[in-house]
Amino acid sequence: MKIAVLVSGSGTNLQTLINQLHEDTTSGIEIAVVISDRSKAYALTRAKHADIPTQIVKAQDYNNRIDFDAEISRHIDNYAIDLIVLAGFMKLFQPPFVRKYRNRIINVHPSLLPAFPGANAVSDTLAYGVKYTGVTVHFVDEDIDTGPIIAQKTVPVFDTDDEESLHNRIQIEEHKLFPEVIRWYAQDTLKVEGRRVIKVSPDI
Ligand code: GAR
Repeated sequence: MKIAVLVSGSGTNLQTLINQLHEDTTSGIEIAVVISDRSKAYALTRAKHADIPTQIVKAQDYNNRIDFDAEISRHIDNYAIDLIVLAGFMKLFQPPFVRKYRNRIINVHPSLLPAFPGANAVSDTLAYGVKYTGVTVHFVDEDIDTGPIIAQKTVPVFDTDDEESLHNRIQIEEHKLFPEVIRWYAQDTLKVEGRRVIKVSPDI
């Protein structure tokens, strides 16, 4: 299975996908391209070290977000991608892109959705004062962090936490859960029924 990993930042999730999937020849999962909307994203350096092709598509180079999405779509189709993986990609796709790749785009988010969607999930979590938070991996739909939930893992919030310490603890779980979910997808074990994602046994 060929995946595209879309990034905007440091790329620690990308690194775990490289280590746990791309470089595991038994996984059957190849990261065919890494696409970034920021030319300085450290994730691009990680991709280059792993000899994975990279593409930079910056929103400011396009007249509107439909054109930006279309350029990303062109790369996705050129590389014959099966699954689009958002790993810290901080742009929202417009409805035509989501419709074209329905149930073929997944995202990792640093909270237990539907709590704390959006770009500042960890600081919003701390400000609200909840005692447990976590990680969500979900399919992407037309809204912000509202798509069908595939898997979640809880993480405790400690009184001593600041944004960095809490995000670090969440990321430890992201780095385990995200590759696992992509393996499930590759094994064709995820069935979407309305808002529910059901995990079925792999065909033997
Ligand atoms: C991750 O923690 C991911 O959950 C978050 O960005 C971080 C990227 O880290 N995504 C969102 O907040 C999406 N709303 P990374 O670049 O080190 O993988």
